[in-house]
Amino acid sequence: MASIFWHFVLPIFLATIFSPNPTYGAKQSKIIGMKMNVIDRCWRRDPQWRTHRVQLANCSIGYAGKMMNNIGSDLIYYEVIDTSDDPINPKPGTLRYGASVIQQKVWITFKSDMKITLAKPLLISSFTAIDGRGANVHIAHNACFMIFKATNVIIHNVRIHDCKAQAPGLVMGPNGKVISLGQVDGDAIRLVTASKIWIDHNTLQDCEDGLLDVTRGSTDVTISNNWFRNQDKVMLLGHDDGYIRDQNMKVTVVYNHFGPNCNQRMPRIRHGYAHVANNLYQGWMQYAIGGSMGPSLKSQSNLFIAPESGNKEVTWRKGNSENGNMWEFHSVGDAFENGASFTVTKGGRVPKPNYSEEQYFKVLDVKSVRFLTRSSGVL
Ligand SMILES: *[C@@H]1O[C@H](CO)[C@@H](O)[C@H](O)[C@H]1NC(C)=O
Ligand SMILES: *[C@@H]1O[C@H](CO)[C@@H](O)[C@H](O)[C@H]1NC(C)=O
Repeated sequence: MASIFWHFVLPIFLATIFSPNPTYGAKQSKIIGMKMNVIDRCWRRDPQWRTHRVQLANCSIGYAGKMMNNIGSDLIYYEVIDTSDDPINPKPGTLRYGASVIQQKVWITFKSDMKITLAKPLLISSFTAIDGRGANVHIAHNACFMIFKATNVIIHNVRIHDCKAQAPGLVMGPNGKVISLGQVDGDAIRLVTASKIWIDHNTLQDCEDGLLDVTRGSTDVTISNNWFRNQDKVMLLGHDDGYIRDQNMKVTVVYNHFGPNCNQRMPRIRHGYAHVANNLYQGWMQYAIGGSMGPSLKSQSNLFIAPESGNKEVTWRKGNSENGNMWEFHSVGDAFENGASFTVTKGGRVPKPNYSEEQYFKVLDVKSVRFLTRSSGVL
C-alpha cells in the first residue's frame, strides 16, 4: 500500500525538481526587507554574499555552534568543475577530490549547475564546507553523503535525492587514503561518529532508506532550514537501541520543513537529546516524532499540521515504561492544526538545551513558523 503511494508520487516530483529555478539575482532583490530567520539574516541580506561566502561559517546556531574552524588564512578554495566520480582515484576538479583527498580546511563551490551521480558514498573529511549556493547542484540516483569519523563539516544548499544502498567496496576515506567500506544503506546523509556538523538549506527526498541519520556517537549537530519531503523514514537520531554511547548525543533541529508525503521519524530519537524548535510539519502518516531507550525531547514552538485523515497523534513511543523504556517528551509552545495531538511525558522538568553563548538562539512564537520556514530547502 505505502509503496504504491511512493511510486505514484515520484513522477510528479521529478518534474518539479528539474524545472528551472528563477535566477538568484531576482530572488536577491526580493529578499531585501523580507523577514528572515536569524541564520538567513546573517548572510542573505548581503548583496555581496558571493565574495563573502565564508561568512556563512559565522551564521550557525544550536549545538554545532559557530563553524569558525572551517575558515581562516589557511583555507583552500576549491571549485568543482567535473561531474565524474572515481571512488578510489578521484580526479582533481571532482567533488570527491575536494571532499576526501584534500586534508586541509577546504571550502567547496560548484562552477555551474550540475548533477553528480556518485559511484560510492562520499566520505567527507574534517574541516570541509560544501557550499552549493549560486548553482543548482543535485547529488542523485546512486550513492550519497557520509560523514565518518570527521568533525567541522558544513553541507549547504545541495539537493540530495534518490540515494541507493551500496555494496561493500573500496573508497577514498576521509583521511585521503583508500579504505574498505562495508554495506551502506541508501541514506541522503549519514553521520557515523561525527561531531560539530551543520546541515543547512538542503532539499532531501526519495531515498531508499532514510534522509538523515545521526549515528554511533555522533553529537553537536545542527539541522536547519532543510526541506525533507517524499520519504518513509526521514531522520534517525541514535544508532540502535543497544548503542549506549548515543546517550551523549545532542542535536538541534530548527527551521526545517517536513512534508508533504513524509511518513515517520521527524525525528526518531534514541538515547540522546534533541531540541526541535520552530519547524513546520506538513502532515505525517505513522507519526512525526518518536523514540526509544530514554531519549529526551524538547519540542518547542513547532507547527504540527495533522493529515486530513489517519493518525493525528504527533508522537510515537516504542514499548512501554514497564519494560524499562523511559521517555522525556516535552512540548512547549507548539501549535496543533487539523486535530493534531501530542502525548507529553507527565511530571519532570522540561530538559533545557543549556546552549553556550555561541549556540544560543531565541525560539520565536509559533505564529511565525510559516515565515521562518518559508525558504527552507535549496534556495
Ligand atoms: C561573527 O558575527 C558576530 C555578530 O553576529 C560579529 O560580532 C563577529 O565579529 C563575527 N565574527 C567574524 C569573525 O566575522
Ligand atoms: C541542562 O542542565 C540541567 C541542569 O544541570 C540538566 O538537568 C539537563 O539535563 C541539561 N540538559 C541537557 C540537554 O543536557
